[in-house]
Amino acid sequence: MAFKIGLLGLGTVGAGTVQILQDPAQRHPLVQELAIYRVGVRSLDKPRTVTLPPEQLTTDLASIVTDPSVDIVVELIGGLEPARSLILKAIEHRKHVVTANKAVIARFGAEIYTAAAQAGVYVLLEAAVGGGIPVIEPLKQSLCANRIHSVTGIVNGTTNYILTRMKNEGGDFAQILADAQQLGYAEADPTADVDGFDAADKIAILASLAFGGRIKLEEVYCEGIRGVSATDIAYAEQLGFVIKLLAIAKRASQPTPDSLDHLQVRVHPTLVPKQHPLASVNDVYNAILIEGTPIGQVMFFGPGAGAGPTASAVVADILNIAAILKVERGCAVQPSGLPLLDPLLACSHQHYCTVAPISDVVTRFYARFLTKDFPGVIGKLGTCFGHHEVSLESVVQIDRRSDTAEIVVVTHDVKEGNFRRALEEICTYPAVEQIASTFRVL
Ligand code: HSE
Repeated sequence: MAFKIGLLGLGTVGAGTVQILQDPAQRHPLVQELAIYRVGVRSLDKPRTVTLPPEQLTTDLASIVTDPSVDIVVELIGGLEPARSLILKAIEHRKHVVTANKAVIARFGAEIYTAAAQAGVYVLLEAAVGGGIPVIEPLKQSLCANRIHSVTGIVNGTTNYILTRMKNEGGDFAQILADAQQLGYAEADPTADVDGFDAADKIAILASLAFGGRIKLEEVYCEGIRGVSATDIAYAEQLGFVIKLLAIAKRASQPTPDSLDHLQVRVHPTLVPKQHPLASVNDVYNAILIEGTPIGQVMFFGPGAGAGPTASAVVADILNIAAILKVERGCAVQPSGLPLLDPLLACSHQHYCTVAPISDVVTRFYARFLTKDFPGVIGKLGTCFGHHEVSLESVVQIDRRSDTAEIVVVTHDVKEGNFRRALEEICTYPAVEQIASTFRVL
């Protein structure tokens, strides 16, 4: 029996989610059991990038969250209202909820999770922070044996894009922002991003998960990037830093009797040492560095926005809920009496995959030859590689010791078998003393 999804919103992320659900091949088998049941939209006539049966679309979003057939409500309309009310109504009707809405969760998380606990339903939000980057589930599950000390993130792609361009081009904030808006990297109203509010919502959510308590959004210090100038970026560069908008949550440095709950949660432009792992996170990318005991440092990096990446996180949450529902429903009807295992945790495949032999692998190669320093040796190597369909990207004679030449070649992508056959032939050349090393190049 399929799990029925009631989708609220068919914008960028909604359409990305539909695309995944409509194309389950080569994904987890559980994706095939997810059925788009109803889709709530603002306008029925708007042109869409995805095709859905017209009878699935409705402008009556409340009818979706109250529909007894819907198992999971997926809220992707964004904004505060009606998103908050629809989430609460869905919970009231005992629907599990998946949302990408950081603004609602950061402001009304207490209300929503209290209602969810009372109704016995889940509200999952992997897509709300870091787009496609899995960070919520790791904080809740994979890292739960750790005592977390800090969460430090670049969690806003727009500001990271602007700061990266300011650094690379030496341009000023206003000029790069205007260009970013024209190119679609920044919103027409950029306030939520450039003034740090979007990052503040996200770090409030991360802090809550990392430190196991609620966070009042108004207590999160928030300073955006409008005050960052090209001059500051240039001086920072000279001093060995890059300027990044960091969202930071950490335990207070001064231990107090209640220091377990005593946190700093803040968003501000920060000079980051160039060798720090976050310093090389550029453009629209996001990354979240988590420090804890005993793990030390672990960093999650990836696309922080976009239809596909964010939908990847949305569908992962849907699958988590579907797996729980499957176990609940399956256990009641298992004729064997054995418990049904969670399909995301249990091994569900029996067949073997076909692994290509290394000779079929296509990759670039580096090879270093020691040869006699005769005229025409490089030409002979090139001709031999050519005969074996190995195209060369570069050839360098790096060193010359007495009458020995050291020749290094880097190939284009070639079939490993062809490259090896060329080397076998090259070995037979009297001028070639040694193939000193070969490595694959990424
Ligand atoms: N506006 C956000 C950003 C993307 O620029 O990162 C959605 O969270």
